[in-house]
Amino acid sequence: MKLAVLGLGNMGSALAHCLLKSGHDVSVWNRTPEKAEVFAEVGATICSSPNDAIAASDFVIICIKSHTETVELVNGLSVSLEDKTICDMSTGDTLDADRLVAILEKQGAGYMLGMINAYPSGIGGDETTILTVGSAGTWDRYGSVIGNLGGKSAHVGEKPAALAALFAGLFTVRQGFMFGMIYGALVCQKAGIPMQVYADQLPATIKLVKDYHDLFARTVPTEDFDSAEASLKVYAMAQEDALKTYLSLNAPADLIQLMHDRTKMAWDDGYGDRQLTSLVQHMTDA
Ligand SMILES: NC(=O)c1ccc[n+]([C@@H]2O[C@H](COP(=O)([O-])OP(=O)(O)OC[C@H]3O[C@@H](n4cnc5c(N)ncnc54)[C@H](OP(=O)(O)O)[C@@H]3O)[C@@H](O)[C@H]2O)c1
Repeated sequence: MKLAVLGLGNMGSALAHCLLKSGHDVSVWNRTPEKAEVFAEVGATICSSPNDAIAASDFVIICIKSHTETVELVNGLSVSLEDKTICDMSTGDTLDADRLVAILEKQGAGYMLGMINAYPSGIGGDETTILTVGSAGTWDRYGSVIGNLGGKSAHVGEKPAALAALFAGLFTVRQGFMFGMIYGALVCQKAGIPMQVYADQLPATIKLVKDYHDLFARTVPTEDFDSAEASLKVYAMAQEDALKTYLSLNAPADLIQLMHDRTKMAWDDGYGDRQLTSLVQHMTDA
């Protein structure tokens, strides 16, 4: 199997080094040729154009600025893409992803899009995840290559939107956590709690996030929301207490207000004795 990596910035270089270390036959190209020179010493074939790199390969990983630049790059190619599989690891939005996939399919190429959940230093790690979508058969053929780059990598479907949605969903989890800390800091500040004291208390709370995940994984996929150890109405009441505290201390209360509104609505609709995670069902049906 012959591979190519187009784009040798921080991430593309890490991908190329990892594939070479795993013993693959790798051609590389970068717009600024100087960045490619170092790869001659580690056994890569240096190509002077993306056309040359693609012509020499079956599976082509592109890792440049974004899908927009990948679309431009692919539109400028003169080499045939028939029977090649092009895997764009650059990030981008759903519209550009759809445009890219349409262009590749029209030219007879298989496609893969990858979302790298790691820094370049994590590439090649057993725990590293790269989530991919791809046309039929591409994961069977090239999943092992992606597995070399990240041991916990997975194929999540064919539609580009699936990857964008997964990114949005997982990013929301991380950002929700960050915003929770930010809003929490604001209410504590208003009460005169030193930020160091607040920061020192975070690890104990973060431990509970694991319990949240266990509960979510146990209840949401199975839709088994009965016999809650802490019911939705208990959470609604605790949120109301917290909301009152934010308001009385004149701290920004929009985040906790949103949580409380959503939970209270579900309680009003008869979800009070269920798990808090039944909000997924309630908000789907709403
Ligand atoms: N770094 C990370 O931690 C990380 C993590 C996950 C995903 N990613 C994604 O990986 C992609 C690359 O990130 P990076 O960290 O490697 O960025 P980077 O170090 O800034 O490198 C950018 C690369 O894109 C190339 N490039 C930019 N515009 C181009 C164009 N119009 N045509 C051809 N090549 C072009 C650059 O070529 P030149 O050398 O010629 O400028 C360079 O090789 C991005 O989509 C990023 O979101 C990065």
